[in-house]
Amino acid sequence: MLTSLTLMDVQNLENGALAAVAGADSADEIERVRVEYLGRKSELKLALRDVRDRESGMALNTLRERLETAIDGREQELRRAELDRQLTQDVLDVTLPGEERRLGSLHPTTLTRRIVEDAFLGLGYEVIDDREVETVHYNFDQLAFPPAHPSRSHRDTFFIDPVRLLRTETSPSQIHVMEGKKPPIYMVSLGRVYRRDAPDATHFPIFHQFEGLAVDRDIKLADLKGTLRHVMRALFGDERQVRFRTHYFPFTEPSIEPDVSCPICDMRGCRMCKYTGWIELGGAGMVNPQVFVNVGIDPEEWTGFAFGCGIERAAQLRHGISEIRPFWENDLRVLRQF
Ligand code: DAH
Repeated sequence: MLTSLTLMDVQNLENGALAAVAGADSADEIERVRVEYLGRKSELKLALRDVRDRESGMALNTLRERLETAIDGREQELRRAELDRQLTQDVLDVTLPGEERRLGSLHPTTLTRRIVEDAFLGLGYEVIDDREVETVHYNFDQLAFPPAHPSRSHRDTFFIDPVRLLRTETSPSQIHVMEGKKPPIYMVSLGRVYRRDAPDATHFPIFHQFEGLAVDRDIKLADLKGTLRHVMRALFGDERQVRFRTHYFPFTEPSIEPDVSCPICDMRGCRMCKYTGWIELGGAGMVNPQVFVNVGIDPEEWTGFAFGCGIERAAQLRHGISEIRPFWENDLRVLRQF
């Protein structure tokens, strides 16, 4: 005798359960059917807990087994169907064109800067970064600029206040380095400089320079020339010629300007070299003894050379770019070519 469920109830329960199993068409649904008919609070489990006689126990256990078998069977069927679906529908078509991911590339200024850095690291120079906001003291006074030098004017230089300005050249980093350590010194400093120039094909109010300084015993002009030839070769290759013209800078004596034979036209004459076959690349010279005195280095004991060159200028020549403006416009059509 069943206590709470009659045989009729058992039959109805089985029919209902089997119908639910057959109707379940997803893994979630079959799980819900399992909980409903076999879970801890299901009618069957509650009846099994209350069972008092052997006959009812057997009937209910048989039902439990039959339901378990039906549910497990249906679950497997559904799993297999899902696998089939995945195998036929979720296939990857390897013949479809892929999604293109554009890789970025280095800016031509950065590429050129790295060549210069590598060339000097190879010579044992220290590469330094310096400040862009300078003072009149470091940008002009310590570099022995005369009081009336035109660069000191507001027309040429961006002043922040009467003593602070945006550096007009990387040369003040020579002073910082010489104040900070005793010779021997071999350093290059690369970075941005600022001048109040109206932008045109060859001028821009911001550009980059690399500055070099060597201070040691017995440094000669020939050492400077050899060093400049080394970096020119690294930048423009072995075929280029280098020549030096005398010039004037307040912080070097004597001063020279290095020229490189025009890599654009190979000296046949073009707009870039103004039909001279030569391109001026910067300034250089032997450190003025007055600069050594300013930073407390004895000019009787030490000599040195210094140089400064434009990085965009060098990049223009390397890549045959006739203007400076594209370096600052960040036009992707230009940058993607590097
Ligand atoms: N500072 C100079 C300029 O911007 C370039 C230069 C000339 C740097 C001579 C030097 C140097 O270190 O010795 O035009």
